[in-house]
Amino acid sequence: MDKNFLWGVATSAFQLEGSPHADWSSWDSILNDNPDVTNHYSLYKEDLSLLKELGVNSYRFSVEWSRIQPKEKLWDSSVIEHYQEIIDILKSYSIEPMLTLHHFTHPLWFIKKYPWHEDASVDYFIAFAEKIISSLKGVGYWITFNEPYVLLLGGYLEGCMPPGIRNTGLALRALKNILYCHSRVYDMIHNSVPDAKVSIAHNMAALAPWSRWNPLDRTLSRMAKHFYNHSILDAFLTGRLKIKFPFHRESIIELPIKNKLDFFGVNYYTRVHIRFNPFRKMCVELRHHDIDGFGLSDLGWEVHPRGLEKVLRYASRLKVPLIITENGIATRNAQKKISFMRKHVDAVERSIRNGIDVRGYFYWSLIDNYEWLEGLDARFGLYRVDFKTLKRRPTNAAAYYSYLIKSRSEF
Ligand code: FCB
Repeated sequence: MDKNFLWGVATSAFQLEGSPHADWSSWDSILNDNPDVTNHYSLYKEDLSLLKELGVNSYRFSVEWSRIQPKEKLWDSSVIEHYQEIIDILKSYSIEPMLTLHHFTHPLWFIKKYPWHEDASVDYFIAFAEKIISSLKGVGYWITFNEPYVLLLGGYLEGCMPPGIRNTGLALRALKNILYCHSRVYDMIHNSVPDAKVSIAHNMAALAPWSRWNPLDRTLSRMAKHFYNHSILDAFLTGRLKIKFPFHRESIIELPIKNKLDFFGVNYYTRVHIRFNPFRKMCVELRHHDIDGFGLSDLGWEVHPRGLEKVLRYASRLKVPLIITENGIATRNAQKKISFMRKHVDAVERSIRNGIDVRGYFYWSLIDNYEWLEGLDARFGLYRVDFKTLKRRPTNAAAYYSYLIKSRSEF
């Protein structure tokens, strides 16, 4: 990879530091015993020094909206200063910050009074984004929203994430408001930092029919691919979002997002097999199989590096540089983590050799943290956290990542 290639790790604020004012704090009772999770909010200097130790040249992290605006009419400037200090420390280490504005969590007051399907949500998010963009200095890479479709599936279709709704109509209204915010925030960032690079981080999965011979599985898998992986790309290309849920009419939403991307962030973890099952919601059942023999993660996700090449190839239709904004594995086995990283970085190299413009790779995650709805046992970290003592300890995968960065960089 050339010398400008971004080698990084990715985190999100809430997963490292919790927040007493966030919707998720009361949503998941797992957090009752560890509300500060890794207490990164206090231990940030120690954690940032791990980045230096690793030798990454970029770091993706998020700001926690609910700490910054704990009440509708209350802004906490000390929190903004805290995030500015993080940026300054990164700069002093020559590490390029990539800042995520929205990574799943909201202030409790927002999700209660102005959830995303309400049009008023837009003004409140824009006000928050405006505050951040005008206050924080030194950020070149911005992610407006992390995985809008995961938020949609969890928050509006499955109902397992806040605001806990199950309604396709409201889901589409929420998505419209979120992507409309992206468009506004994209312009706001460019007005303030003309050469900034702005994107979303889109979760893409390799999707395949459970049985290749079953036409229903094949149809569902095709529809899922279109909805989950592709529809948002098409919307960025055309300004039209076309969504078709199984057994629903197609919805078309016009959105002012055409070409509002300076790069495209891809979060890739796994392959999912899809089966028609009349007893499941929308008749869809999802499964992981260890087909290639590379194993499953502790969360049961299939390790499938070829899938990364596939989604990158597809995303290259956007004709903007691609950055893998997340890729990682939950395992306590450092050897398995090492092999996961090597195989996925190999896949990135193959993609580049095949002409795909990939400019960065961010491993998820720096240290163990809170995993949504799973708790503290999903060990994604290069550094192991003991959640009793809060001590951080390197796993062998940390040293391996440093080696990988050095050995794959052209100087
Ligand atoms: C992604 C999320 C991230 C993390 C990883 C494991 O979908 O963006 O916050 O939880 O999964």
